[in-house]
Amino acid sequence: MDAYEILELQGKYLWPNHLLYYTDPLPLDHGEGMYVWDVEGNQYLDFFAGILTTSVGHKHPKVLDAAREQMEKLIHSSTLYPNEKHVRLAEKIADITPGNLQKSYFTNSGTEANENAILLARVVTGHQEVIALRHAYHGRSALAMSLTGQAAWRIGGTHAHGVKHAMAPYCYRCPLKMTYPECGVACAEDVEDVIKTQTSGKIAAVIAEPILGVGGFITPPPEYFGIVAEIAYTYGGLFIADEVQTGFGRTGTYWFGIEHWGVVPDVMTMAKGIANGFPLANTITTAEIADEMKGKGLTISTFGGNPVSCAASLATIEVLEEEANPAHVAEVGDYLHAGLKRLQEKYPMIGDVRGKGLMQGVELVNDRETKEPAADATNYVLEVARSSGLLIGKGGMYGNVLRIAPPLTATKEHVDEALEKLDRTFAIVHEMTW
Ligand SMILES: Cc1ncc(COP(=O)(O)O)c(C=O)c1O
Repeated sequence: MDAYEILELQGKYLWPNHLLYYTDPLPLDHGEGMYVWDVEGNQYLDFFAGILTTSVGHKHPKVLDAAREQMEKLIHSSTLYPNEKHVRLAEKIADITPGNLQKSYFTNSGTEANENAILLARVVTGHQEVIALRHAYHGRSALAMSLTGQAAWRIGGTHAHGVKHAMAPYCYRCPLKMTYPECGVACAEDVEDVIKTQTSGKIAAVIAEPILGVGGFITPPPEYFGIVAEIAYTYGGLFIADEVQTGFGRTGTYWFGIEHWGVVPDVMTMAKGIANGFPLANTITTAEIADEMKGKGLTISTFGGNPVSCAASLATIEVLEEEANPAHVAEVGDYLHAGLKRLQEKYPMIGDVRGKGLMQGVELVNDRETKEPAADATNYVLEVARSSGLLIGKGGMYGNVLRIAPPLTATKEHVDEALEKLDRTFAIVHEMTW
């Protein structure tokens, strides 16, 4: 099928609210390593990795072999029957997660993993209310949309009961108009303020992304999660880290994003990069907390812990250990960050460069003084980068943050290629808009 035929069927048979990148959407055909090709044969350097998901690149032979081998044996069983890949993956993830996070519940998407985490927190604490952050994104079920702190992603007027939002630790646009570190991380105290003023005073959980992904790679200051986790405990709740974007080495140095803040959460949710694109998600907690679920009612997941996805995940983690461990991601990520900082010196539209590892955000503004969000320029950058053969993402509540997040197997050479394309792109967009 050519692009025209695909788009024709897309328009006719798929819901129109599927968000598509680009004015002229891009039907992809195949991928290999760091690159993808569209149906017309054009090649692109993939620096968004299917929304931070193909963590070891497209068509990695070890992931393919593992999945193929499992498909020959058993494609599906449901969680009614234990299987080897399911338990081996649970053991492996317990091994690489911090603290005594040990017991897993596998499902199919980040949304489900977060649903499961809130279910767990409510059952275990006996409390209902949950604190999330403004600018957060936690998924697309009714509850996950309610946890999400951005109107645009809360379609249908969804408001699940008992969810309140505290200020985001968004230093570049501080909600308190203060400056770090003189602020004393005052935004963290807002979590307590919200609990005291908007809840019954007893909460089930605080849930947060270590780096707010869809929110535009908002990166909280170093003290933030230590303070927030303590507040959660003071008011009887669990602290849940949504590692759907930040997990599996994405942020460099550690396997999971929250480790940068020196905090071990009670519950961690993960998906996206867990299996290099095979649908899989997980909610992990301590044995002590998980065991509280005994005798609390029945639960199954038809596709959860699917043996093929679990086999692909085990292979993905193995490849990460061999080819793209957290130290590699930190090194290549720092290299990318430094290159983006150089572009910031050159182009006044770049207001902020932030992030950790291979999760780098570039916030575009019309004026560095007023910080007026440059949503149009952001769209132009995406379009021009595409014509130069580079795919990147965007995010932020104002649609003005570029999200740069290649497969973790990216090398400095791939980063050089991306930076060169971005430099040319910014030069063109500068001429168009500045
Ligand atoms: C931090 C975070 N949590 C949860 C989700 C939902 O994951 P899924 O789309 O797999 O349901 C996303 C998706 O982008 C996410 O970024």
